[in-house]
Amino acid sequence: MNITWPPANLCRVKRELESGYELDDDPGRVDLDVVVDFLSNQAYWSKGRSRELIEKTFWEASRVVGLYASDGSTVGYCRAASDEVVFAYLCDVFVLEEHRGRGLGKDLVREMVDYGPLTELRWLLGTADAHDMYREFGFRKPSFRIMERPGPKFADDPPSE
Ligand SMILES: CC(C)(COP(=O)(O)OP(=O)(O)OC[C@H]1O[C@@H](n2cnc3c(N)ncnc32)[C@H](O)[C@@H]1OP(=O)(O)O)[C@@H](O)C(=O)NCCC(=O)NCCS
Repeated sequence: MNITWPPANLCRVKRELESGYELDDDPGRVDLDVVVDFLSNQAYWSKGRSRELIEKTFWEASRVVGLYASDGSTVGYCRAASDEVVFAYLCDVFVLEEHRGRGLGKDLVREMVDYGPLTELRWLLGTADAHDMYREFGFRKPSFRIMERPGPKFADDPPSE
């Protein structure tokens, strides 16, 4: 059996960006109030999600990456849900509005999918409008090997085929 070591949740990366911001995959550094506020009050995909459920997805993630301003405050976040062997699902990507438009969203995604311990896996994600951004990181329409069971929330989405 081919096991990746160290496991994703033990691999810690801290990266200073030229812009003065910092990326860090230490979950202990993330300000959960910021994440909960954005995901439950602003994100179109998770509006109304309870703090309890947001924290559950946070603590159960294989990897989270936080984006920090020079004063240490949390200004962006994303997480990967993964079995750490076959697939990784990129979720809850955001940069707070006042920090957008300067490349930080791409820095965040790059750190997660290109540099992280899960980089070799099959990555999946859902997006309503940011397809072009993700295309830059190798995301594309799924191949014939992939099917989805949309569940009631997405039952009316037209299939891509
Ligand atoms: C999406 C998001 C993380 C991008 O953050 P950002 O720091 O502004 O992104 P960047 O400055 O790195 O720019 C990313 C690129 O994607 C484009 N882009 C960003 N958001 C986009 C969107 N919602 N739809 C289409 N394109 C988008 C930008 O125009 C930019 O294109 P460019 O490289 O040609 O200039 C940020 O806009 C955000 O948090 N949005 C709200 C939450 C959200 O929609 N998250 C994504 C869920 S899939």
